[in-house]
Parts: sequence; C-alpha cells; structure tokens
Amino acid sequence: MPEQDLLIGQTLAFTADPFHAPPTEAARHESRGGVVIEAGRIIATGPADEMRAAHPDARLMDYGDALICAGFIDAHAHYPQTGIIASWGKRLIDWLETYTFPEEMRFGDPAHASDTARLYLDLTRACGTTTIASFCTIHPVSVEAFFQEAGRRGQRVVAGKTCMDRNAPERLRDTAKRAYDQSKALIARWHGKGRISYAITPRFSPTSSPEQLEALGALWAEHPSCLMQTHLAEQKEEVEWVKSLFPDARDYLDTYERFGLLGAGALFGHAIHLTTRERARLRETRASLIHCPTSNTFIGSGLFDMPGLTAEGQRIGLATDTGGGSSFSMLRTMAAAYEIAQLRGMALHPAQLIWLATQGSARALLMDGMIGNLAPGMEADLVVLDLASTPAIAQRARRAEDFWETLFPTIMMGDERAVKAVWINGKSAL
Ligand code: GUN
Ligand code: ZN
Repeated sequence: MPEQDLLIGQTLAFTADPFHAPPTEAARHESRGGVVIEAGRIIATGPADEMRAAHPDARLMDYGDALICAGFIDAHAHYPQTGIIASWGKRLIDWLETYTFPEEMRFGDPAHASDTARLYLDLTRACGTTTIASFCTIHPVSVEAFFQEAGRRGQRVVAGKTCMDRNAPERLRDTAKRAYDQSKALIARWHGKGRISYAITPRFSPTSSPEQLEALGALWAEHPSCLMQTHLAEQKEEVEWVKSLFPDARDYLDTYERFGLLGAGALFGHAIHLTTRERARLRETRASLIHCPTSNTFIGSGLFDMPGLTAEGQRIGLATDTGGGSSFSMLRTMAAAYEIAQLRGMALHPAQLIWLATQGSARALLMDGMIGNLAPGMEADLVVLDLASTPAIAQRARRAEDFWETLFPTIMMGDERAVKAVWINGKSAL
C-alpha cells in the first residue's frame, strides 16, 4: 500500500474562473473537507468523512477549522532584490540605479547568490508561497543558485538569467551573443529537470539592444516550451524612454513583438499604461499580464486596470515583484490588489483574490493543469491558513456571517501568522 496523507480542515477549490462565473459558484468550499496526497500528488478531495472512509490507512493531519487551499503562486519576483526590499524614496529608473543595480552586482559571488536564494525561499515559504517565477541577475551563477536551492526543496519554480546589454552599469552588461549562449546553456542544464522551468529573461527593452532582443526571440523559437518573462509599461517615464529608444516601434509591446517575444507563455510584469493596440495583441496572442500591486503603489507606477482587463478576457497572474514590491506575502499582495481595484471601481470578491494567487497565476505560467488548485491529479502544493490568527483578525472573523466574510479579513490584514502549514511536493514543509 503506497503511503498516503489525509489533510482535514476547511477546503477551498475552484471549478471555474470566478471572473467569468459568479465567484461563489466558481469556488467549492467544504467546511469539513479532506485532501488525500500520495507520491507528491493530490489523489482525492471531498467531504472529510468520505475521504476517511475511502482511505482508512492514510496518515491523518487534522487542521481543525483552518483553511486548506492551493499554495500561492508568485508570478513575478526578483529573488536577488531580497536585501533591498522596502528601499525609500525613488521611482523606477532611479530606484534601479540607486538600489537594484548595486545589489545585483553582488550575485557574481556564488556564496552570496546561494545565501540569498535560501533566505528568499525560506521567507516566501513562511508566507505560503509554493511556486515563484523569478528574475535572477546577469550572472549564470545566480540562476544556478536559485535552481539548486529550489530543487533541493522539490519546489516548482520558473527563473532565468536577466539579460541586459545597454543602459546598465558595465559590470551588469552582457552582449547579444553572451545572453543567447549563456541562456541556452542554462536551458540545456535546467529546463524540465524535476520541477524546474526556464524563462528566457530580457530585463526590459530599455536595457536590451534590438540585437539582444532578436537573439532572445530566436532562442525562444528554438525552445518554445520555455517561458519568456520581462516588464511592460510600468511607468509613464519608462514608456516615453522606450519610445525614444525604439523610434520605429508602434508602441512598447511592439519592441518585444517584432523580435518574436510575444505569445502564449510570455509573461509581462506590470502592464499598466497600455494602448488599445497593445491590449488587443496581448489578448489575441494569449500572453500573460502579471499584476504587481504592492510594487505599483510603492514605486508610484499606476493603477492596473483590473475591471477592463478581466472583462476583455486577458490572462492575468498575481505577483509580489519583490523587491520593487514591498512585501514577500501573497496575502498582502491580494490585499493591495483589492485596494487598487477599488480605486478602479471594482470590489474583488475574496474568491477572485485567492483565484488570482493560485489558478490565475498558474494559468499565466501555463501550469494550471499542474498546480494552483485542489483537485485529483494536481501536484500537492498546499497552504493551510488559520482564519483567526491574531486577536484583530479573530474578533472580526467572529462576527462573520459566512465563509467568505471569515476569509476576507485574513486576506486584507495580510498577516503571515495566518500561515499555519505549507506542503510542497506532497511533503509537509512548514
Ligand atoms: N523594470 C526593469 N527592471 C525592473 C525591476 O527590477 N523591478 C521593477 N519593478 N521594474 C523593473
Ligand atoms: Zn520586476
């Protein structure tokens, strides 16, 4: 008999997209549910009593009233920026020059890269994050360090060498050829190894020459199962800068599109200041828009158009954008997404917020068949949330009249003490 674990608690799963079905109908909540895990996968979910009867030999873990849901998926982060998170007083371009580039220079040192990867994965696990799509730095060793540490933990992660050949300090620049060669070697070594996926990673078009973007477009065409991650239309000054650097381009997105860097599996961080043409092309090509709400307020970038972009059927993931984002926590990030949507005239339902942080991000990474939900066949990455984790949250939760009203203060107060347990790859990890 293979070893099985049975986790019992409240459970939350999704049977549809809560942006295109009534949120409470798209979600399936059990007040006493069970999740059966075997060999790293979920093999059954349903009412706790039925799960116990059907799996009498499973090792039992009873989490009481706590909520079991899919682990959170952070669809855009920069693990090398862990040490400079919450750095004061700058907008994007100055923030990169003042804080980010000096820190990223340190990642040529394998010991610093490994130490930071370990710290970052510890910090995010404590927040209930089980999958991350991260930028690394220009240095291949920064990618090695991240994949090695994630691999040791059995985590499903996406990452890539950040390519830059202009408008960055000399020590952080490669060339079109070196970006291509080093990315290609990392793909050969890591892509598809265990739960690791490679993302071809031009930082953003201001720091890549047309030649570099072309080389990376060619690399993606040679390795179409890789993802491609970059930044798009984050700040107005940046959009103007792109216009001056690429005078022939129709718009910012075109600086990627013309080099083959647009399509399903392309992940565009921020995507705030978009033209009508850009929105149409993003949708037609099934590219992913990654919403980074704490970053967008922290660096002063703008208000992501959640109502418009969801209504037109864009593929949207949710992300911290550490360390432009001011928190490692996806709970805190959901709260910021709620606040920004309010400023855009939309009240996101708690089911929509949790969906964005799980299935939405998984779909953005083209992994919604593997991770981001509680359902048979899914990989067993789970978070267990205490919905009364602090006195402030508990007193509010006591007044709640239904499950959603109980869950919402845990999201909005974004306190990581809510994270009671984390399961990664079918194993208890926190
Ligand atoms: N645009 C280009 N690089 C970065 C980065 O590191 N963080 C953010 N937020 N935006 C960027
Ligand atoms: Zn970013």
